[in-house]
Amino acid sequence: MEAAVGRPNTCESSPRKDTCGPDSRLWVSKCPADGNARAKAQAVENIDMQCVDGIWLMKFDAVKDMASYLKKLRSLNMRNDDVISCGFPRSGNHWCFELVNMILFQTTKFREESFACNLLDIPRDLETIKSPRNLVTHLRPLHFPKQAMDKKTKIIYILRNPKDVLVSMYLMNREFAKYEWRFLGTWQQFLELHKSGDLPGGSWWEHVRAVESFAAANPHIPLHIFQYENAKERPAEEIRKLCHFLGTPDELAEEIARVTRFENMKKMLGAGGKIAAMEKLVFHEKEVVLRKGQVGDWKNWFSHAESEQFDRDFEANTRGSEWAKRVRTYMGLPALTK
Ligand code: A3P
Repeated sequence: MEAAVGRPNTCESSPRKDTCGPDSRLWVSKCPADGNARAKAQAVENIDMQCVDGIWLMKFDAVKDMASYLKKLRSLNMRNDDVISCGFPRSGNHWCFELVNMILFQTTKFREESFACNLLDIPRDLETIKSPRNLVTHLRPLHFPKQAMDKKTKIIYILRNPKDVLVSMYLMNREFAKYEWRFLGTWQQFLELHKSGDLPGGSWWEHVRAVESFAAANPHIPLHIFQYENAKERPAEEIRKLCHFLGTPDELAEEIARVTRFENMKKMLGAGGKIAAMEKLVFHEKEVVLRKGQVGDWKNWFSHAESEQFDRDFEANTRGSEWAKRVRTYMGLPALTK
C-alpha cells in the first residue's frame, strides 16, 4: 500500500489514536500558541481519511471502513442502461449530473433525484433508483463495480482546469460543518497538500492520469469527456454531444442549456431547492456547491509565484497526458500541438 507522499501515515502524533489504524489518520487541529513547526504543519489538517489501495479517501459517518465498503461496491449489480459520471471533486459534477438526468429522461425539468443519492462513494440504496440510473462518483475506475466492465457501462469523465478546481475545493473544504472534514489551513497550505497528494482523493493529475490510463487500457468501454470550459462556452453543443454519446434525441439541447445555466440552476436548486437541502446537512450556512460557476476565478487566488510553481508541477506530472493538454490554455499555459 502506497503511503501519502511526505506525510506520516500513522497516527503516533495524534491524540485521537482510537480512530486511527495503520491506514487511517486524523490530524488534530489544535495548534499550541508556542507550537513548533511540526505542530503547526499538523494544525493544517483535520481531515479524517483512510488509505485504500494507495488512495487517501475521506471517511464518512456511514462508512466505518472504506476498504470493506469499496470491496462491496465492486460487486454491485449493474444494469445494461446504467451510466457512470466520474470527476475530480469540484469539476462540475453536479452540473453534469443534472444535464445527464434531463437527457436520459428527456425532460427540461430538474428531477427530484439528487446527486448525493446516486453517489457510489458512500453506501446508498442504489437498487431502488429508477432506470436508467445516472450514477456519479469521484472514485477512480479501480473502485468501479466489476460488472461495469462486462456490461460496457457508458462512462462520462468530467474535466476542468485544475487551478479553478482547487480554488473551488479549498473554499468548499473550509465550510464543512463536521469538524473532522473541515480544512483549517491557508490557501498556500492547501496548494502544498495538493502537491504532496494528501488531499482526499489524491491530486488532480493522479485522478486524470488514472482515468486516462483506464480508458487507454479498455478501449471497448464507451467513454466521453465532458469539459467544463467547453460547456460554459458552448453549452448546447456540448449537450448535443452528450445526447449522441448516450444515444438519445438531441432536440431538447438548447432548452436544457438554458435551464441549466448557472444562474438558473442556482435559483432552482440552491436557496430552498434540493442542493440547498443537502448543504444544510453538510456545510455551514453558506451556499458552496453552486458558488460562482465561472471560468478563470483562479486568477483571483493564485499569486504569480504560486501559479508559476503550479504550472511547473503540472508539466512534471502530466507529461504524455492528452487529457491534461485540454486544460492548458485555461491555466494560462501555451497549447501543445504534439
Ligand atoms: P465554483 O466553485 O468555481 O463556482 P462539483 O459539482 O463537482 O462539486 O463542482 C462545483 C463547481 O461547479 C462549482 O464551481 C460550481 O459553482 C460549478 N457549477 C455548478 N453548476 C454549474 C452550472 N450550471 N454552470 C457552471 N458551473 C456550475
